[in-house]
Amino acid sequence: VTVGILLINPKYKHNVGAVVRAASCYDAHSVWFTGDRVSLIGGRREARLPREERMRKYAEVDLRHMGPRPFDRIPDGVTPIAVELSPSAEQLPQFEHPENAWYVFGPEDGGLTRVQTSLCHRHVLIPTRHCVNLAAAVYTVLYDRLAKRQRGGLDQILPSYEVLDEDRLAEVLGLE
Ligand SMILES: C[S@@+](CC[C@H](N)C(=O)[O-])C[C@H]1O[C@@H](n2cnc3c(N)ncnc32)[C@H](O)[C@@H]1O
Repeated sequence: VTVGILLINPKYKHNVGAVVRAASCYDAHSVWFTGDRVSLIGGRREARLPREERMRKYAEVDLRHMGPRPFDRIPDGVTPIAVELSPSAEQLPQFEHPENAWYVFGPEDGGLTRVQTSLCHRHVLIPTRHCVNLAAAVYTVLYDRLAKRQRGGLDQILPSYEVLDEDRLAEVLGLE
């Protein structure tokens, strides 16, 4: 299963950090972003967000600052999905997530353009009265995906004591 996120021209690094955290929590493999308003520190191999936006396990997410034509880089067999408040989009509660999905989000101070939307094969909106914060939109979509996959028997339902990763569990239980 391949799950990725593409943020188009995000404005705030704290939102990119929050999206990486969401990806890491929900086991999405990649967070790619475009534009020149957020940049990674370090070289190509060790690119990362500034310290305050990082947390343990972030390193497992493939975080990339993309050049032009990021849609061309989405792997074959993965469906690009525009997540945008667009009147013709499907609504998230009724949406069936493809097995392999790349969710595409617009910037905080704008939205996806027609061209970007047309490069996506599916279009989904979260039926909220106003648009939600960028990272909140990512969390909502990833949670919806998890809930439906578990209900559909596509993802395993772990017992609660196995859900948190081991380090975190030890921390919560006061074992370290
Ligand atoms: C904060 S919103 C964009 C702000 C908005 N265009 C404005 O200026 O009022 C940033 C991105 O989050 C996503 N988003 C936020 N709320 C959404 C919703 N209810 N349904 C689908 N996508 C949403 C979209 O990808 C959007 O481009």
